[in-house]
Amino acid sequence: MENKYTEKSKSIWSMTTHLPPRNPLPGDLTVEAAVIGAGMAGILTAYLLQKQGIDVIVLEADQVASGQTKNTTAKITSQHGIIYQDLIKKLGKQKARTYALANEAAIRAYGEIIGEEKIECGFERLPSYLYTREPSMVVRLEQEAQAASALGIPAHFTQIHGLPFDTMGAVCFEGQAQFHPLAFLKHLSQKVTVYEGTRVLKVKKHMIWTDHGTVNAKHVVFASHYPFVNLPGMFFARQHQDRSYVLCLDHPDQLDGMFYSEDKDGLSLRWTHGALLLGGNSHRTGKNRTGGEYQRLKQAAKQYYPDSRIVARWSAQDCMPHDDIPFIGRYSVFRPFWYVATGFKKWGMTSSMLSAMIIRDQICGLQNPYARLFCPQRFHVRASLPSLLADMGESAISLTKGAFHLPLRAADLKEGHGGIIRIGFKRYACYKDEKGVLHKTSARCPHLGCELEWNPAEKTWDCPCHGSRFDYDGRLIDNPAQKGNAF
Ligand SMILES: Cc1cc2nc3c(=O)[nH]c(=O)nc-3n(C[C@H](O)[C@H](O)[C@H](O)COP(=O)(O)OP(=O)(O)OC[C@H]3O[C@@H](n4cnc5c(N)ncnc54)[C@H](O)[C@@H]3O)c2cc1C
Ligand code: FES
Repeated sequence: MENKYTEKSKSIWSMTTHLPPRNPLPGDLTVEAAVIGAGMAGILTAYLLQKQGIDVIVLEADQVASGQTKNTTAKITSQHGIIYQDLIKKLGKQKARTYALANEAAIRAYGEIIGEEKIECGFERLPSYLYTREPSMVVRLEQEAQAASALGIPAHFTQIHGLPFDTMGAVCFEGQAQFHPLAFLKHLSQKVTVYEGTRVLKVKKHMIWTDHGTVNAKHVVFASHYPFVNLPGMFFARQHQDRSYVLCLDHPDQLDGMFYSEDKDGLSLRWTHGALLLGGNSHRTGKNRTGGEYQRLKQAAKQYYPDSRIVARWSAQDCMPHDDIPFIGRYSVFRPFWYVATGFKKWGMTSSMLSAMIIRDQICGLQNPYARLFCPQRFHVRASLPSLLADMGESAISLTKGAFHLPLRAADLKEGHGGIIRIGFKRYACYKDEKGVLHKTSARCPHLGCELEWNPAEKTWDCPCHGSRFDYDGRLIDNPAQKGNAF
């Protein structure tokens, strides 16, 4: 870990790691496997493939770990909120057990790689606690502890101490882990061929077109966070994105565990080298019209850690699959040589490792005990239906919004605010800056045409359909869109 904490508004991981830049694709290439995206999923997949002797490259539009991975809280855990009792109910005990064992195997795999490669990334094993402050939730957490334990996870319900507020108890998973994700990726990415600044523009069968040349690959892995090829696969119809916010406090006292809560306004906490990460305020991307996410975290920080200084803040988002299970494996029956790793629902450390293990085995023709559960072609009607209907409703509203929603007049837009404004017959996404200058971009998302929403917490335009994001001048921030919405 380099530097000391000096800046705000970027993650503590980015502030303490310098990742040496890599060259773009030098021209046309033919390889055995091409991985699109150099986040946690892409680098791990390339690393494991290379260990099997596969000739693999990684194509990265920006830089290693420049996507969601740089803004994670980096808990490596099979404790993914309240999940095991629900998986048992919806999918049965066998599938729930596979989910548990797969994620526990992913934790062990991190330990093995870090040990083998001697990576200094602050990897440490410690318990993870899912706590509640609400009396009505205690029974549900007790049931979660029983369900997880019955599936083979070392889990129990317990009372916790060491947090600056009272809780009603927590589900404890023993032997979980945390680390510095960029220190880890800095080391691992040096082991594989990565072409940075190389955006993939189009993929057709084995041919990949980038802005720096073409790649012909026997196997193509989409580790781009959100798979951006809409057909086949249709991942846009099977997941949406949720955002969350993090504050980093100067805090010398170590926490003896990682903490998470599903209560309304519940906080996620973990400690790293003199810094405490405080996370929360999750919402569907494009659905925070009133904003105040950082403000609420700041209030919590002031209340619970009055002597601590805020040294950084950041946010990130992740893909939320309808049935709560990531999509890992073959992209589509029509493209058996394409693979995908997405839908990590904010638990992408274990899911990235699992993706790497499953995709490596599929490319190498090996059996993988977890592949079937995560198969992207599955459809679990009972587990998927409620989220599927909600997403369809959200898309319908966003696509037809122009017909029903009255736009603002430019004169009514306050300085420092954004809104949809009609100019002539067209609707525009407009932001009026502090000097009164109007920044005008298209109100339509270039992905599939939904109307964008203003995100006052971050001064961005966010798409409620599938989560693409743009700055107020229309530059692309987050996919699945692959270009900005500026004119
Ligand atoms: C606030 C927050 C906290 C979280 N905390 C945790 C946690 O504690 N534990 C945990 O397990 N998970 C956590 N997660 C989830 C985890 O951070 C993510 O699931 C994970 O980082 C995703 O990694 P990825 O490699 O799939 O995506 P990314 O890191 O986004 O990587 C995708 C890469 O693909 C590149 N790319 C995209 N399109 C193209 C293209 N066309 N051509 C070339 N490259 C392209 C991007 O530039 C990017 O670098 C958290 C998520 C959030 C939102
Ligand atoms: S992200 Fe799909 S329409 Fe905007």
